[in-house]
Amino acid sequence: MAEHISWSDDLLVGVEAIDSDHKKLFELMNRLLASPTHGATAVSQAIGDLSSYTKRHFAAEIASMERSAYPERSAHAYEHDHLIFQLENIIDRLMISGADAVDGELSNLLRDWLCNHIMTFDVKYAAFLRESGQTG
Ligand SMILES: [Fe+2]
Ligand SMILES: [Fe+2]
Repeated sequence: MAEHISWSDDLLVGVEAIDSDHKKLFELMNRLLASPTHGATAVSQAIGDLSSYTKRHFAAEIASMERSAYPERSAHAYEHDHLIFQLENIIDRLMISGADAVDGELSNLLRDWLCNHIMTFDVKYAAFLRESGQTG
């Protein structure tokens, strides 16, 4: 579908449970991007896997924030909801018009999503866990 998006250790936040989820998200995202444009079954399978793993990861992060009483958890949850909304919007259009219609847009969102979100929001939460002596 589109180019591979490489994992970089610069994306590590230093909290094992979060980092391993992020690596898995990269793997699922690249599986989707590697799906043949006209392989409808492969594409919808890859989309289903990516969106359900993403929702599970987001829920786990928010649950961890609640346990650790992270003061910025509602802003973080809002950011997750916004990303899910954008992803679902692209998925709907992909299902209607085909992968070609959303190709660049999908890889941009995924890159933006996984890199910018991790580097700004998740890194901040990981720093809070370390500073407050919690492991998450
Ligand atoms: Fe995350
Ligand atoms: Fe997050």
